[in-house]
Amino acid sequence: MSKSNMTYLSSGKAKDIYETADGNLLFEFTDRVTAFDGKKRAEYQEKGEIIYRLAEYWFGILEAEKVHTHYIGCPTPTRMIVRHPDIIPVEVIRRNYVAGSLLRRYEAGEVKLPEGVKPEEGAPLPGGMIEFTTKFEEVDRPVDMEEILSNNWMNGLEIEHITDMTSRINTILIRELYDRGIILADFKVEYGREKNSEILLADEVGTPDGCRFRDKTEFEDGVISSLDKDVFRKGTGDLSTVYGELFKRLQNQEEM
Ligand code: TMP
Ligand code: ASP
Repeated sequence: MSKSNMTYLSSGKAKDIYETADGNLLFEFTDRVTAFDGKKRAEYQEKGEIIYRLAEYWFGILEAEKVHTHYIGCPTPTRMIVRHPDIIPVEVIRRNYVAGSLLRRYEAGEVKLPEGVKPEEGAPLPGGMIEFTTKFEEVDRPVDMEEILSNNWMNGLEIEHITDMTSRINTILIRELYDRGIILADFKVEYGREKNSEILLADEVGTPDGCRFRDKTEFEDGVISSLDKDVFRKGTGDLSTVYGELFKRLQNQEEM
């Protein structure tokens, strides 16, 4: 599919986005990676293709489980065609274990942990935790229900619906990752609204850019071994090696 009959729309942290002649979107997965709101940047060869293949893999599994997503198809490696809903301007974060900004915000006194949860990386969050952040502000900022409702970003029923959808996605991801020896610490998803108001899963899902994956054996021994972008954020490992390892583990069980 040539880019000449498409309109360039925007570039995200890792993707370039085009509109196709029939009104869908084309995601071009690039080798870019950023962290800390774009302050840390790099490129890794073949990163785009790994992210694309993992996103395609998870959309296939979720669609088969009747999770409504924007996924349409993949014309070539690194390019994905998706529907073009109105993006809900709220990012949804689902957490199973303490990590990342939750711990940072706790230490800064900005957030409370549920009763009995230890303030340390890897501590379980029984029943999980859902958080919302802004999507279209310069820096993503946690927002509460009140702000979401008063800005009309979502109504109460929609918040309930995407909370349920995110829980279902969490259950499916955990189930699929378990046999590959991988723990899902947390992840981020985004949703869109179609013309008929139906809500669908948008952006990408199940990739090491947007999830925290931990090696299960090490995790059970109390060691945090990241199979995700944390190695880049913290400078604790080579992103290509780690993304390659994650890809291999998922590929070994299923033809991708
Ligand atoms: P956080 O701990 O930094 O809030 O991140 C929680 C999860 O959400 C983690 O798996 C990374 C993912 N995430 C994104 O995919 N994009 C973002 O912009 C942010 C802030 C987090
Ligand atoms: N993805 C975000 C950024 O690029 C934050 C992060 O993943 O650390 O700034």
